Amino acid sequence: MRVLVAYGSKRGGTEGLARAVGEGLVDAGHSVDVLSAEKVDSLERYDGVVVGGALYAWFWQRDARRFVKRHLEALQQLPVWFFSSGPLDDSAKQRELPPPGSVARLARLVGAQQHKTFGGRMLPGVQPIALARGDFRDLPATRAWGQGVGEQLHAMPARERVPVPRAMPLVHRLVFWLCLFTGITAIAGGAALISGVNGVDGPPLAMLEHSPFETFLVPGLLLLVVVGMGNLAAATLEARRIAHSELAVSVAGAAVTVWIVTQLVMIRTFSWLQVLYFGVGVVTFGAALWLWRVRHRLAPHRIASPLAPR
Ligand SMILES: Cc1cc2nc3c(=O)[nH]c(=O)nc-3n(C[C@H](O)[C@H](O)[C@H](O)COP(=O)(O)O)c2cc1C
Repeated sequence: MRVLVAYGSKRGGTEGLARAVGEGLVDAGHSVDVLSAEKVDSLERYDGVVVGGALYAWFWQRDARRFVKRHLEALQQLPVWFFSSGPLDDSAKQRELPPPGSVARLARLVGAQQHKTFGGRMLPGVQPIALARGDFRDLPATRAWGQGVGEQLHAMPARERVPVPRAMPLVHRLVFWLCLFTGITAIAGGAALISGVNGVDGPPLAMLEHSPFETFLVPGLLLLVVVGMGNLAAATLEARRIAHSELAVSVAGAAVTVWIVTQLVMIRTFSWLQVLYFGVGVVTFGAALWLWRVRHRLAPHRIASPLAPR
């Protein structure tokens, strides 16, 4: 089978571990690509993936984190193993070290089979306080772990996979930025309406003639809380890839669209900003529905994980 070992490394220590894992997988009879995580653009040709990240302040190095998020839906359909390179003492050799919370969350997202922590490597001249200097990597043990992964992979049944649309990461980023943009500007707009509530500092109260409101207080609060905070919450859920985040995004997109239509009906003025926000709302809503449909179709193909039983 063809296996990818993708690594996120800053100073080369994790890359060395990734190569040892790759050798172990070859020992187990697989053909293997060992690549820097940022260089991988598709997982289509792989039957299994090992992802390794260097630990910096309890987080994986950026390339490894981004790799997981960029290829999330493809990883969820593949058998995946994680390893971290970190401790600058022999603690990883002495006992099984659990991953830090940030890595455990990624492991649960992709449904990883296993996480393994290996000792890291400290380059001369880089010595955070209270950390030892040296190379604590155990390359033979790492290679043996890679071979074990390879054997587990042989034993796993072949699975049908659904190709992940190439637009997936782009649409995910698009809805995130649209919700963030709408959230921040709607909060600012709502706050401005509330502060000019008496019609002196803000828009004239005569604008509310065709509405049930006498001041801008309630419209301002609705804009700030429902549209603004709602969109910020949706952006946060989508960024963290919380389950069903796309549904929150669709509600956030619908809220902007409804806000603009209500405004047109009640205020009866027209500006390019309304066109812009109406467009943003419709695109957010449509993109969220697309994400929901695709993720829903992919969900039954998720591989059950011993780390996160589903
Ligand atoms: C600033 C800094 C922060 C680090 N934070 C952690 C940490 O939180 N946990 C850990 O186990 N190791 C930590 N380490 C050790 C590194 O993970 C280790 O050096 C690793 O081998 C680096 O991998 P790389 O050479 O692939 O970049 C840290 C090292 C540095 C320099």
